[in-house]
Amino acid sequence: MTHAPALTPEVLTTLIALVREHTGIAMTQRKSILLERRLQPRLQELSLHSYQDYLDRVVSDRDEVAHFIDLVTTNDTLFFRTPQVWDYFRDRYLPGWTRAHPGQTLKIWSAAAASGEELYSIAMLCEQFQQQVPSFRYQILASDISQQILGLAKAGQYSGRSVERIRLSHPDLLRKYFTASPYGVQVNQQLKQNVSFALHNLLEPLRPPQRFDLVFLRNVLIYFDAEHQETVLRQARHSLKDDGRLILGESETIARLATGYQFEFPMIYKTAEA
Ligand SMILES: C[S@@+](CC[C@H](N)C(=O)[O-])C[C@H]1O[C@@H](n2cnc3c(N)ncnc32)[C@H](O)[C@@H]1O
Repeated sequence: MTHAPALTPEVLTTLIALVREHTGIAMTQRKSILLERRLQPRLQELSLHSYQDYLDRVVSDRDEVAHFIDLVTTNDTLFFRTPQVWDYFRDRYLPGWTRAHPGQTLKIWSAAAASGEELYSIAMLCEQFQQQVPSFRYQILASDISQQILGLAKAGQYSGRSVERIRLSHPDLLRKYFTASPYGVQVNQQLKQNVSFALHNLLEPLRPPQRFDLVFLRNVLIYFDAEHQETVLRQARHSLKDDGRLILGESETIARLATGYQFEFPMIYKTAEA
């Protein structure tokens, strides 16, 4: 197995610009090793001998752009990541929303869904809530920019760290909503029945336009610079109803950005006049 020569500073600069162009993700020159590690296997698959050759391929071949995006995005996620968010969603949000919107269908967007653990965590709590309130209805849109990771979310098959985590945190829900498979576990059809999937770049308007009650936009703003964070937040605001809520990741804040949101609780924002 031959390795391409190391990334030169010039090629690295162009690669970083290409990552930003296609995903909005801001990388610094310190990501050189990470980019090499992620792109090297693809160079070999394509029998290319240098990163410059690969750059040329991405620029000239639209089909390669999808692979490039799969490789440069970071898709770490977990079931019930950040427990406070799920306590809020189960104990405050669902009962409060249902009281305020009788007869309506709750619309939720998991806006950087990765391999789906977040969206199925939402679905499990909605299914549980429906047992207490049988008239409760919900729909979830799950989107991501990476085609490959969205395919994993649709498949709903989990193993390793993902399964270990839910086995520890919610063993009852694991037994109830998953079936053992040769691979690990498989999400039951019940959790998929109210879910749709879309390939979507958060820097662009959602097509077709939709308005949600709740947008989970967690652990993705951290990858953008302030300018792109504002763009993403503005786009998300267009997709939220006027009494909507936005949920961010635990290391994300929008306090210093000019956005149409008001702090409600840690990580939870209400929509406000922009
Ligand atoms: C670290 S994961 C977060 C997953 C989940 N929301 C969570 O908090 O566990 C970040 C996801 O954002 C996606 N992403 C990165 N840039 C994006 C963009 N411009 N538009 C949509 N999704 C993007 C990545 O593909 C990745 O799956």
